[in-house]
Amino acid sequence: MRSVKDILNSTGITNKALKADLERDVPAPIPSKTFECSICQDRGIFLEGDLAYPCDCMKTKKRENQFRHARISRELMKCRFEKFRFDYYTQEIEDQTHREGATRAFNASQRFVEDCLQNPHGLGIMFTGPVGSGKTFLAAAIANKLIESKLQVLFLIVPDLLDELRATYKSEINELDLLDTARTIPILILDDLGAHNYTDWTRNRLYSIINYRMNEQLPTVITSNLSLDEMEEYIGVRTTSRIIQCSRIFRLTVHNDIRLQIYQERERKNK
Ligand SMILES: Nc1ncnc2c1ncn2[C@@H]1O[C@H](COP(=O)(O)OP(=O)(O)OP(=O)(O)O)[C@@H](O)[C@H]1O
Ligand SMILES: [Mg+2]
Ligand SMILES: [Zn+2]
Repeated sequence: MRSVKDILNSTGITNKALKADLERDVPAPIPSKTFECSICQDRGIFLEGDLAYPCDCMKTKKRENQFRHARISRELMKCRFEKFRFDYYTQEIEDQTHREGATRAFNASQRFVEDCLQNPHGLGIMFTGPVGSGKTFLAAAIANKLIESKLQVLFLIVPDLLDELRATYKSEINELDLLDTARTIPILILDDLGAHNYTDWTRNRLYSIINYRMNEQLPTVITSNLSLDEMEEYIGVRTTSRIIQCSRIFRLTVHNDIRLQIYQERERKNK
């Protein structure tokens, strides 16, 4: 289509005032936007001749969205069974207990994934142990594998969940959304069920999640620093008792916090 300006020029209209008037109505050029995908300019499809093709960037986006949807952070997306290192679970004086514990937890995690793929109803799994012993790593590796196998997973970090629940206190609509999803999602991960500030109200919400899932036999993956005694103290006897009923429990131990071991490794390399 010809622009008004072209028409004016070709018809030889020289009335400057009229031209200036019309030019004022020509929209300013749209500032050039940077696109994440230069091939499709973020439209998801690109044209070749008269044909439209889906752009490859959509596959990556869809995959990323699945992980976002499950609330898996970028850092946790990196936790993979193939990357699990057993050499963190040793010490100079060769003692096999840390390694054996890690091997048992690792094998059980892989088996848990296989079981979930076979049957949506079954036992959950809980990892206990000190700071930096690989509990969250294993929980995330499980989550990643299940998401890739197209299962619905929700990864909740308990202190964040408590904040969210507190924030929805009295605004029942949001609270029901999150609670309902946590109750009914096929696989729920509760990361860091630890020594946080629980109130009676958040304790009740936690109970209702665990109790519902136990009754429906929906598997839950839990990580915690707490001993079972401490867990009873923090989240209550009834919830702890139900967790024990519907989980296999594995203890991860290390001679040294793995975060410290990673730090030392990095420093050695930088020397
Ligand atoms: N077996 C492992 N192989 C490779 N990296 C590991 C392994 N275990 C843990 N890590 C890494 O070490 C760090 C600490 O591990 P993780 O977060 O799993 O500890 P945690 O037991 O959950 O600790 P916390 O009790 O503080 O939550 C993370 O960066 C994690 O990716
Ligand atoms: Mg952790
Ligand atoms: Zn694209």
